[in-house]
Amino acid sequence: MRITDLIEKKKLGHALSEKEIQYLIQAYVSGEIADYQMSAFAMAVYFRGMEDKETASLTMAMANSGHMLDLSCLGNRSVDKHSTGGVGDKTTLIIAPIVASLGGCVAKMSGRGLGHTGGTIDKLASIPGYKTSLKEETFIRQAEAQGVSVVQAGGVFAPADSKLYALRDVTATVDSIPLIASSVMSKKIAAGAKNIVLDVKTGSGALMKTLEDSRILAQAMVSIGKSCGRNVTAMITDMDTPLGNAVGNALEVEEAIIVLQGQGPRDLRDLCLRLAGEMLALVHGGDGAYWEKEAAASLSSGKALQYFRDWIRAQGGDDRIAENISLLPHARYKREIYAPRSGYIFHTDTQKIGLTSLLLGAGRNKKEDVIHMGSGILLKAKRGDHVLQGDLLATLYTEDSDLLIAAKEELLAAYVYADTPPKAVPLIYDVIR
Ligand code: URA
Repeated sequence: MRITDLIEKKKLGHALSEKEIQYLIQAYVSGEIADYQMSAFAMAVYFRGMEDKETASLTMAMANSGHMLDLSCLGNRSVDKHSTGGVGDKTTLIIAPIVASLGGCVAKMSGRGLGHTGGTIDKLASIPGYKTSLKEETFIRQAEAQGVSVVQAGGVFAPADSKLYALRDVTATVDSIPLIASSVMSKKIAAGAKNIVLDVKTGSGALMKTLEDSRILAQAMVSIGKSCGRNVTAMITDMDTPLGNAVGNALEVEEAIIVLQGQGPRDLRDLCLRLAGEMLALVHGGDGAYWEKEAAASLSSGKALQYFRDWIRAQGGDDRIAENISLLPHARYKREIYAPRSGYIFHTDTQKIGLTSLLLGAGRNKKEDVIHMGSGILLKAKRGDHVLQGDLLATLYTEDSDLLIAAKEELLAAYVYADTPPKAVPLIYDVIR
C-alpha cells in the first residue's frame, strides 16, 4: 500500500477499507508515514468526511496502536465519562466521588488543557502532592478500593491518537466530526471501562458550535462504542456560557469542593447530578432520574465529599483541601472588571473567556509552557444576568501583573449586552442512548 494512493482516494471522497486504515495508522505510528502526509490525509477527511464504518475502523486502529487496559476485574462497575471540552468544566472532580459513593468505579484517564479549553489533569495537578501518573496495577487497585483513580492520558494508551491529535492541533483539522469521534472513542476503548457517558458540549465555548453538529458527533460516538461492546450514553450540554463561575485550574478545584460541600453554582451542580445519574444507571441499571436523586443525597449527606478526600489522599494529594481551600495555590495579582454599561448579558463568547484564562497563565500556548495554577477568572455575571454599569463582571487572577491589561480587554470583548434578556437555553439539550 502507498500512502499517496490513500490520500488520493480520500481526496476524491471514496471510503477506505479496514485494511487500508489499519495500514495508515500502523505506518504512521512507526514513522513510515510522515507528518506532512498524515496532515494531507487529515485535511482530506476534514473536507470529505468518513462513512460510519471507516470511522469505526479508524477508532479501533488507534485504540489498538498501544496498550489496552483490562478492567474486567471491576465487572460492570467500571464507568468512564468524557467531555468534548469546554470552559469551566470541572465536572469530573465532582462526579467521580459521587459515583464512587454509590458503587461505581471511575478509573479514568484525563487530558491536559487544549486550546481554549481546560483539562482535568491540569486541575488535579494544582492539588499539592497529587500524582498524575500511577503504575497500571496501582491505578486499578485504587479504583477498586476507593472507587476513583484519575491519571494523565497518553503514553502507552492509543499513541496513534496522541500523535495525530498533536498534528491536527497545528493543521486546523481539529473540528472534524469523524476525527473527533475516533480520537475520543479510541482513548475510551483503550481505557477499558464497560460503561461510558459522553458529555458533548455545544455552543460558543465548544468544539462543535451548533446543535446539529453536536448531535451528529454524539450519535457517531455512541454507535462506535456500541459496536465495541460498550454501554454508551451521550448527553448534549450547553457550552454557550462557561460552566459554573470559576475558570482556571486551582480556582476550579475550589469551586468543585464548594459543590461537594453542598453549595456552589446551580448550573454546575445540576449538570453533575444529571451526568452522575446517567453513569449510575449504566452501572446498576434503572432510571437516570432515580440515580440523580441518590447522587443529590450523596452530596447533601457529605458522603461524596468523604470519597473525594479518600481519592485525593490515596493519590498522594493533600486531602485537607476538602476543608481548607486556602491550601490550594493562589495567584499573586488580581484585578476586578466592571460592566461598562447597564443591560442584560445577551451573549458571552465563551471561547474568548477561555482564551482570557489562557492569557492569564492558566493554559499553554506551546506544549512545554508551564501553567500558573492559581491563574484564571472568577465570573460574577454570565449570559442572561442583568447588570448595572459599574457592577462587578469578573475578577482576573494572575502571577504576572503585565498580563492584566490585555486580559481585561479580551474579557470585556467577550460580553455582548442588550436591553432585553436572551432566550433561555437548556442546560441539557438531548440524551442519546
Ligand atoms: N477531545 C479529544 O480527545 N479528541 C478530539 O479530537 C477532540 C476533543
